[in-house]
Amino acid sequence: MDQVVNYETRGALAIVTIDNPPVNALSHAVREGLDSAIARAAGDDAIETVLLMCAGRTFIAGADIREFDQPPREPHLPDLLNRIEAVNKPIVAAIHGTALGGGLETAMACHYRCASADARLGLPEVNLGLLPGAGGTQRLPRLVGVELALDMMVGGRPIGARKAFDAGLIDAIIESEDLREGAIRYAGQLTQKAAAVRQTSAISISAEPDSRFFASYRARIARRTRGLLSPELIVECVEDAVSAPFPDALARERERFMRCKASPQSAALRHLFFAERDAARIPGLDSSAAPRPIRSIAVLGAGTMGSGIALACLRAGCEVLLLDSSDEALNAGRGRIEALLQQQVEKGRIQSDEAAADLGRLQLAREFDSLSGVDLVIEAVFENMDVKTDVFARLDQVCKPGTVLATNTSTLDIDRIAAATTRPRDVIGLHFFSPAHVMRLLEIVRGGETADDVIATAMAFARRLRKVGVLVGNCFGFVGNRMLYGYGRESQKLLLEGVAPERIDRVLYDWGMAMGPHAVGDLAGLDVGYRVRRERTDLPDDPCFYRIADMLVERGRLGQKTGMGMYDYPEGDRAAHPSAEVAEMIRAEANRLGVVQREIDDQEIVERCIFALINEGARCLEEGIAMRAADIDVIWVNGYGFPRHRGGPMFYASQIGLDRVYRGICRFRDTLDKRYWQPAALLEKVAAGDSAAAW
Ligand code: CAA
Ligand code: NAI
Repeated sequence: MDQVVNYETRGALAIVTIDNPPVNALSHAVREGLDSAIARAAGDDAIETVLLMCAGRTFIAGADIREFDQPPREPHLPDLLNRIEAVNKPIVAAIHGTALGGGLETAMACHYRCASADARLGLPEVNLGLLPGAGGTQRLPRLVGVELALDMMVGGRPIGARKAFDAGLIDAIIESEDLREGAIRYAGQLTQKAAAVRQTSAISISAEPDSRFFASYRARIARRTRGLLSPELIVECVEDAVSAPFPDALARERERFMRCKASPQSAALRHLFFAERDAARIPGLDSSAAPRPIRSIAVLGAGTMGSGIALACLRAGCEVLLLDSSDEALNAGRGRIEALLQQQVEKGRIQSDEAAADLGRLQLAREFDSLSGVDLVIEAVFENMDVKTDVFARLDQVCKPGTVLATNTSTLDIDRIAAATTRPRDVIGLHFFSPAHVMRLLEIVRGGETADDVIATAMAFARRLRKVGVLVGNCFGFVGNRMLYGYGRESQKLLLEGVAPERIDRVLYDWGMAMGPHAVGDLAGLDVGYRVRRERTDLPDDPCFYRIADMLVERGRLGQKTGMGMYDYPEGDRAAHPSAEVAEMIRAEANRLGVVQREIDDQEIVERCIFALINEGARCLEEGIAMRAADIDVIWVNGYGFPRHRGGPMFYASQIGLDRVYRGICRFRDTLDKRYWQPAALLEKVAAGDSAAAW
């Protein structure tokens, strides 16, 4: 027998243990080993009950995602699970860690399920653009009912053992410390009482939903799942579970699973699964550089970002000292943190004692002297070089040796900030995204002198905050905001060329962006970018460049916070209403600047904005500002609302064809503006098929 599946007996009990680190994924070898172990137990008359469990940190965490790009090999999981379910002696799954995807499907094909109290169970295939393809869409509704099954499969979030028990997904919670011994005892009890074989497929779905249920469920998930293929197919599978015989429904589930697996969306989501994990691997980093211990953190600046960053740290269990220059700012910052925690309590996401404990770890300070003992400082004061260098010079004087000095600047030169200290090796960029306690991205900016162990500390810190840390190089705007400039430039130019802001936003939203660029500008505040542009000395000599955004700011239309920006927000309404004043302003300005207004189709709107992103991404890559194309994808998906199911801008480019993107950029160069549309050298090379050029 294959060593990834072990077989042993204890009297009448056969114990089958999967041992395939790190997460016991159902690789081909595991499927083969499991198939023969189950056949062996089934064929041995001395065996009355079978216990299936896993070694290591978790129960089966699903199919082996790496095998999805290869042709399927027998035994196929659905057939294997049907054979497990058909065995005429009780098979018990004992779950610890996470039973996910094919892992939970395996457990559901067993006749009984027990789990440790901290186990989690789920069908997260939707996150990979898939649906449960080994009977999960059929067995889960039979065990827990249609609605919870749909929520688990469409939402993709696992549930805890207690909820699973209450819902009927598992039959027992093993309270003892030792799951194995507890599970053996539980299986022994089943043997003793000659427990029957219970086939999940034979259960009939109780409380069938009425005819309107599926229509209203579809309406409920429509917004959240827009553009996605697999959620709709999951709903169709569950409709079958209710109405069709099990074997027919299973065959249709398989056919839909194969359709999902072959889809560009699933390829994109699988790419991101690995890209997000690979981001933590840093080529060339000294492997002996251990992260510095971070016990206490100071956040400087209690404004929008400072309070969000402080909250993110508190939620991760850290001690936080929040410093600002006035009591007023400090109290406002603390108030924001308290209100956000209270919101989480009201939404049932955290308990009120957790919120109180978080707040208990927050201290306020006005004096730099109080920073002498902290391990990490995160500076989030005004975005101004003089203010930042002044702050860093003072930090240099008060902080103990070894303190990591981080700046949350969104655009400024890390090396100039570091040069204000006598310890540039300890200085790094930790670029959070707003709202900092929500957004998953942490762009980690390495300065010219940043030490390897400071980088390792920042990467470990990102993990602790449950964020994806991506290491990038130092330049204006780093990777994310530098690319945003091209995207914003085109979305602004399109206005002058006669496309209404609401149409640009709708087209990009429908394409999959979380929000349109003009709605984002109003949300973030148009004055933020305005101030950054005033500080830059390298902007093109182009009267059209961000012209409309500048005019809005100069008219006091800063966005939602002033009740008007690109859109109107009458009486505090957060919904954007197109503004007649802005429409007229744009028309008149285009006229004044001599910009010809013309009919522009949706495809051009998308290509102008997205190709601009890709071209700048290619430059980041060729200059080494980004280490890998996949890192850029991780940044744009987690920090800028780029649609996950398109895999990020660089993956999207390779999916639609790098030569097509290259030709599109050349067309824009020839017909629009030579200044902005020179194709990146790297793009030109890869489009020409140069396999040595890494994309
Ligand atoms: N296949 C292959 N490799 C996997 C894997 C899988 N299903 N799940 C995790 N891994 C790998 C990761 O890539 C990572 O590898 P590296 O160390 O080389 O980067 C390693 O296992 C550890 O994973 P994490 O870093 O994510 O560890 P974690 O402890 O933070 O999380 C986890 C563990 C909760 C299991 C998480 O890895 C996870 O959510 N995995 C995906 C689960 C999933 O989506 N399962 C469904 C698969 S699809 C399916 O099953 C379809 C079907 O119908 C049969
Ligand atoms: P903010 O204006 O809301 O807050 C800045 C705070 O810093 C204020 O409370 C101010 O009193 C305090 N401050 C200023 N100088 C100080 C000093 N010398 N010592 C102590 N406190 C001082 O600004 P915001 O938006 O929070 O931005 C802060 C930083 O975060 C900037 O560098 C910005 O570029 C960056 N950032 C902002 C994002 C955003 O969406 N707002 C996103 C990512 C980064």
